Amino acid sequence: MNIIRLLFNQEDLLAHLYRLVPISGERVPSGKPASCVDDRIRPGTKGYRPGMISIREVSKRYPGQVRAVDRLSLEVSAGETLVLLGASGSGKTTTLKMINRLIEPSEGQILVAGEDTARLDPVQLRRRIGYVFQGVGLFPHWRVADNVAAVPRLLAWPEERIRARVDTLLTSVGLPADEYRERWPSELSGGQRQRVGVARALAAEAKILLMDEPFGAVDPVTRDGLQRELVAVRELLGLTVVLVTHDVTEALLLADRIAVMDEGRLVQVGRPAELYARPKSGVVERLLDMPRRQTDRLQAIVHPRDPEAGRTTETGTGGSDEVLS
Ligand SMILES: Nc1ncnc2c1ncn2[C@@H]1O[C@H](COP(=O)(O)OP(=O)(O)OP(=O)(O)O)[C@@H](O)[C@H]1O
Ligand SMILES: [Mg+2]
Repeated sequence: MNIIRLLFNQEDLLAHLYRLVPISGERVPSGKPASCVDDRIRPGTKGYRPGMISIREVSKRYPGQVRAVDRLSLEVSAGETLVLLGASGSGKTTTLKMINRLIEPSEGQILVAGEDTARLDPVQLRRRIGYVFQGVGLFPHWRVADNVAAVPRLLAWPEERIRARVDTLLTSVGLPADEYRERWPSELSGGQRQRVGVARALAAEAKILLMDEPFGAVDPVTRDGLQRELVAVRELLGLTVVLVTHDVTEALLLADRIAVMDEGRLVQVGRPAELYARPKSGVVERLLDMPRRQTDRLQAIVHPRDPEAGRTTETGTGGSDEVLS
């Protein structure tokens, strides 16, 4: 019955794919109804806990694999931006998806606003946590406005409120609503699609935003603009953000704290300056040193005879040697 209904209702089908409606067999706790996460997260409100997201000894094993995430423990405070940084395959997306139960942990516990997510209705949880998918993931057969409106519609907001919210958000991510509201995703550039993805994640006024490489497919100028917009929006709305990237510069620019992951494990977590000053492992040291090495190489290209730039060749960057020889 569920499947038949879904097949005939594209909106439901798409929301189902994004797991914003229940899927058959999804474990929904009995008894207590799902709590309203965003009602509880402001300091001073009932149920508020300083650790907005607590990840406790969490592991994920995919069938036939070693742990994709291995006994990870992390605390994210209210209003904080935590960046998960690590190489491809280090477990960043898996970690992010476990927070809103798009992926179920194999072991351990995750608390959001002090509540064990395993005891919450996963669909309610997802509707109240903004999520920007890696690779954007817009609904291709929905116009821009309908994409942004997806969760407010599921929450049965009045249409007037939805329209106003969509227009405000599109404008705030740099897409004037009059021009972009009625477009299809295929009529947008990659960067514009990513902006719509960010607007959609913010639409239901969630206070927690999970972002998986949200600026991956945009040119550097647009990326810079979007990063600034994110900083402004998160401060305006008091958002708690967990952002995944493998771009070290982006991590340094956006993070209150950076959590470095390697092969499913948390290698180190701390403020950018702390990680720079006291890297606990070669992985952290090499990662954080990358922007500096790139700057050195750029210097060597821009000022090839500059003795200062010449010294950078001693830091072991092969590219600079070639430029200077
Ligand atoms: N559905 C799945 N089934 C089996 N293995 C998976 C699945 N999803 C991810 N993995 C594996 O788990 C590990 C972690 O994957 P994950 O997607 O979390 O990495 P990531 O850090 O986000 O990488 P990237 O930067 O490339 O997006 C990888 O080895 C990956 O192959
Ligand atoms: Mg990923």
